[in-house]
Amino acid sequence: MSRAAFPENFVWGVSTSAYQIEGANVADGRGPSIWDTFLDSQTACDHYHRYAEDVGLLKDLGVTAYRFSVSWPRVVPGGSGRVNAAGLDFYEQLVDELLGAGITPYATLYHWDLPQALEDKGGWAVRDTAGHFADYARAVHDRLGDRVDTWFTVNEPWVSAFLGYGSGIHAPGRSSPADAFRSAHHLLLAHGLATGELRAAGASKVGLILNFSPVMTPGQVGDLSMELPEEDTEAVARIDTLIHRQFLEPVLRGAYPADLLPLVERTAGLDHIHEGDLADISRPIDLIGVNYYAPTVVQAQPSQPADPAYPGSAGILFCTVPTAVTAMGWPIVPNALPLLLRRLSREYPDTQLMITENGADFVDVITGDGIHDVDRINFIEEHLRALRVSIEEGARVSGYLLWSLLDCMEWADGYQRKFGLYHVDFATQRRRPKDSAYWYRDVIKRNGLGESRPKRPTLETVAARAGVSRATVSRVVNGEAAVSSEVRTAVMRAVQELGYVPNAAARSLVTRRTDSIALVLSVPRPGGEALTAAVVQYVTSVLEGAGKRITLMVADTAESHRRIVQHAEARLVDAVILLPPSTDRTDTLTERLIRTGLPTVLLGKPAIASLVPYVDVDNSGGAAAVTDHLLSAGRRHLGIICGPLDLVATQDRLTGHRTALERAGRHPLIATANLTMHAGAAAARQLLADNPRLDAIFATTDHLAIGALRAAREAGRRVPDDLAIAGFDDIDAASCTTPSLTTVQAPVADQAMALARLLLSRLEGRHTTSVIVPTRLVVREST
Ligand code: FCB
Repeated sequence: MSRAAFPENFVWGVSTSAYQIEGANVADGRGPSIWDTFLDSQTACDHYHRYAEDVGLLKDLGVTAYRFSVSWPRVVPGGSGRVNAAGLDFYEQLVDELLGAGITPYATLYHWDLPQALEDKGGWAVRDTAGHFADYARAVHDRLGDRVDTWFTVNEPWVSAFLGYGSGIHAPGRSSPADAFRSAHHLLLAHGLATGELRAAGASKVGLILNFSPVMTPGQVGDLSMELPEEDTEAVARIDTLIHRQFLEPVLRGAYPADLLPLVERTAGLDHIHEGDLADISRPIDLIGVNYYAPTVVQAQPSQPADPAYPGSAGILFCTVPTAVTAMGWPIVPNALPLLLRRLSREYPDTQLMITENGADFVDVITGDGIHDVDRINFIEEHLRALRVSIEEGARVSGYLLWSLLDCMEWADGYQRKFGLYHVDFATQRRRPKDSAYWYRDVIKRNGLGESRPKRPTLETVAARAGVSRATVSRVVNGEAAVSSEVRTAVMRAVQELGYVPNAAARSLVTRRTDSIALVLSVPRPGGEALTAAVVQYVTSVLEGAGKRITLMVADTAESHRRIVQHAEARLVDAVILLPPSTDRTDTLTERLIRTGLPTVLLGKPAIASLVPYVDVDNSGGAAAVTDHLLSAGRRHLGIICGPLDLVATQDRLTGHRTALERAGRHPLIATANLTMHAGAAAARQLLADNPRLDAIFATTDHLAIGALRAAREAGRRVPDDLAIAGFDDIDAASCTTPSLTTVQAPVADQAMALARLLLSRLEGRHTTSVIVPTRLVVREST
């Protein structure tokens, strides 16, 4: 076997599922399913009427096998009882068409479309559903068993149980941890009972398909051999049990994992697990279908509440990691596949495996000469290389079925996800091959990977096609103004023709606008509330005026940070406005958001210098102005009360103060405080005690200055006669103190407007630089 070749008789194919492609949801006596109730998917790919054309596409690809799913409500509209012959007719025609094209049909009996009538009686949370499933399986086999010899009972029972009945993200949208565990058991029982029926009816191969998502820590994503601290080992094991061992162990070993049962008992009791169930569930099967897309990344985090999709996961954080991701936001980690297959081969050495799903959602750019989906090709190729390594190591994998043939209805995400080898125009139902379709056809033809990989068009390719320099291309791509319109047009034409995707940011601008902007609010520091309120108000009106929607997101917990980053990675928004930057140095939200590549603007200069544009006030200029004012009023012994020095604004205000003092040949007297009035008073007392001749205090915020006013009064110092006090920010309270406070105004409306305009320029691709809003000295009675 050459380096890139696969074993002889290796099965190459693609997978689809009924609800995601068929449409025709009321045709020929089909009953409603839980997904019809959950969302209105309409015609999907209209495969019900176009199956012959779609089999033609399969033939063009040269696949040996096609995995489709049978819609339970099409065959048994009420879930139990009467069988609808017309529903079976459709699958019979499909199977005959496939066989006629020389393609082996693999039928999945349950790919998530439970008849609504059964959900009305309790769905998967009740035991009877499993029995009805076995009856339905028998009915399908009775019709197709002479032509279909590979049967998959259930696809990804974890998803049905825990997303359908736990987190409620999927149909039927219920969120009960107890029902999630009961559903998981009943789905396993359904598998076991159906296996019995299929075997009795003479099926030659029966399998179960599980979603595999190797559980690892963020560190392990970079280094799979990394040793873990005990708490992370425990976190990984706990999630692994929930996703994988909960299903593998009963099916392949006839028992639930011992560490799972106490959790099930606490959550749902154990009454739903009957004597004899495990014997049914563990009937011998012929293969396990492996659906692999991405790892699950977790780490121990004691304060973390349980994720509803993982009952019992309290104390575990689900992390996003700084790796390449698909448009779905799923990390691309092909090396996790050999890891998984090695583990399965080690723990269940007798089990035959097949990759039943693997593929990727990427944004496709339709150009004049095709759809050059290089990202998708790279994804599949890297996974096939990894698979090839596993097979060489001895993993018993008999085939690879790619997800998916067509762009289709991606469950709760709808039609925006693009997993297909064929692009589908949902308005016309026209199918168009992407480059990945041609590429996969060649892989199948040579039963292996080619030596040369398709290359993503680069800046050089675009430059060569447009006849300009690389620098010019990048100037055009970054929206810089100083490029003539002919050159710009030539470059943009080359970009279009080659399907060049410069980077994620430009991609979201060029190809997929959501017209939504995320406005991410972290907890404002004391005194910052007015600014936050102004920003919300101005940004909303300016951007809504420009036809954008605003999604307000609050960044207050690690979990909320994770969601926000995921939201950005999944490109659910065109851009992000973040305010204000957190004072916490360990908080990496800003960096993580910037790394997503989405256009981002910040309120407040970030701690780490970058090219990301921000709006800030002239902190050092304002501090210098108030210091000059104190000096020119004859003050000679000036103290400064600084807020936290890790705040960039504090540092800049201190710098301005110091610069002005140095010009006057004087040195600063520094006291530090946190941001409360109380701390301001304490710092003022300290300054007064240490420097008996002190005649002025500049506090870097009004809150601190108000505290200083109080301390001066308590110390019997007269303001401003003995002691001048000035603040910064001009909060409302500054004009109401006695005496009223001299301060530096940082105009909230100007900052808010600047932020909104900056973002608009970014979105329009114009060159942007950070904006420093001037401050204004407001002299009142305290100086
Ligand atoms: C799998 C499902 C399949 C599709 C892919 C992207 O979990 O089985 O229907 O949604 O994910």
